[in-house]
Amino acid sequence: MKAAILEEFNQKLKIKDIDKPEVGEGMVLVKIKASGINPVDQKLSLGYMKDRLPYEFPIVLGWDMAGEVEECGHGASRFRKGEEVYAYARRPKLQEGTFAEYIAIPESYLAKKPINISFEEASAIPLAGLTAYQSLFDAGNLKTDETVLILGASGGVGTFAVQLAKYHGSKVIAVASEKNHAYLKELGADHCIDYKKGNVAEEVKKIEKEGVPLVFDAVGGETTKTGAECLHKGGRLVSITSQGEGLPEGTDFRFVFVAPNARELEHIREMVEAGSLKVPIQKQYSLEEINEAFEQIDTGHTRGKIVVSMN
Ligand SMILES: NC(=O)c1ccc[n+]([C@@H]2O[C@H](COP(=O)([O-])OP(=O)(O)OC[C@H]3O[C@@H](n4cnc5c(N)ncnc54)[C@H](OP(=O)(O)O)[C@@H]3O)[C@@H](O)[C@H]2O)c1
Repeated sequence: MKAAILEEFNQKLKIKDIDKPEVGEGMVLVKIKASGINPVDQKLSLGYMKDRLPYEFPIVLGWDMAGEVEECGHGASRFRKGEEVYAYARRPKLQEGTFAEYIAIPESYLAKKPINISFEEASAIPLAGLTAYQSLFDAGNLKTDETVLILGASGGVGTFAVQLAKYHGSKVIAVASEKNHAYLKELGADHCIDYKKGNVAEEVKKIEKEGVPLVFDAVGGETTKTGAECLHKGGRLVSITSQGEGLPEGTDFRFVFVAPNARELEHIREMVEAGSLKVPIQKQYSLEEINEAFEQIDTGHTRGKIVVSMN
């Protein structure tokens, strides 16, 4: 099968023919139709997390995918050949990822793909969608009558966070540069703030005088500290980019590292099928163009999602 291979950290990916993976007990072989690109893919190619995540070269990177079931291993009975599925395919070891034509994966990772969107759109959901879901609801305990401030609202994760919070009935203040404000309003944001102009915390307090009960930080660095300034007393700060260093004493800080969760993916599928969740794709690349896609994600200014299509 064709795959994008990383032979050493800090190198470009190479397109090569490698063996199709074997389908073990409880596993499913999926013919991948599309793979979502995430900032972590590019960071992993540079060796980020190499001390925390076991790996073996050559590595096929990629944690997001949508495709069709090709074969079911012994004891794998949840899906049938030909069924359309999607998954956040982060395995315990970095080796067999989704930038390839096939993946063999335990069936517990898989959920049914939403029927009303393309494989490309579906492949853009799992990592970013689950991150937003787990940050707002599992870690953040967002309540329907609460306001959430989303920092980095126009990126892959923010795009889902804005929509999930609105679907939940919450009020959303979205922070991104002004060029993305019309996009964020279309996703449902109630208020938009430009982080490049003025003081974000002051702007937030013009909308919510006492500050907000929940901040979701998808940017990190100094922005996490800005997030803490926007909280009202007893508010929660959830970040996916910072460990909470340098925050004022007593800040209720929660870090999220997104976990595979097929049950939550099924819930997200229902929202997509009900028309409540859109998947804006900024650009679609071919597998051969994957290094270009990595350059785009590395800008830190992608709007919505980018994906690789295997067609
Ligand atoms: N811990 C986890 O489990 C986890 C999971 C997913 C992602 N992440 C991390 O979370 C971050 C975001 O991921 P992503 O997929 O959403 O990235 P992305 O798609 O590259 O998002 C970039 C977005 O951030 C916005 N942005 C950049 N600087 C900003 C600032 N100072 N204030 C507000 N918005 C700003 C950009 O908007 P403008 O163009 O308007 O600047 C752009 O739309 C990445 O660092 C990623 O590695 C962590």
